[in-house]
Amino acid sequence: MGKFNDIDLENWRESDVNTDSLWLIGERAKTGKHKNVYHGNFIPQIPYQLLSRYTKKGDVVLEPFMGSGTTLFECEELGRRYIGLDINPEMIEYVSGQVDLFTNDSEYLMRNCNSASATRF
Ligand SMILES: C[S@@+](CC[C@H](N)C(=O)[O-])C[C@H]1O[C@@H](n2cnc3c(N)ncnc32)[C@H](O)[C@@H]1O
Repeated sequence: MGKFNDIDLENWRESDVNTDSLWLIGERAKTGKHKNVYHGNFIPQIPYQLLSRYTKKGDVVLEPFMGSGTTLFECEELGRRYIGLDINPEMIEYVSGQVDLFTNDSEYLMRNCNSASATRF
């Protein structure tokens, strides 16, 4: 089976990916586009860790509950493509305004829909 991340397994100790079962995360990262303006938003370090561990550059990440775009902004930084869905049209508008389309060889798609519905929106 091929690798599913870009971690150098020969030098994994030098990677900043957490390998323990307990993740000790310091202060919320505030760099880049992260503004902490949305109730219930992720600490950016969480999607960073998951994306680094489970995806490679160029992979497509699907997020059915996008919110304020924390995962998307990490995808931009890490060169992942991204599909974000949210039932709240205001979040689609807000996040779309934050994205530099087609940078870092990545592409981003956002849609307003009910991710829990089996029928088309
Ligand atoms: C806790 S917030 C996500 C926060 C996001 N991880 C962030 O860092 O900003 C959950 C989001 O899911 C959306 N949501 C809730 N039910 C949904 C549904 N059925 N389909 C699509 N989006 C939904 C809400 O509008 C809200 O923006």
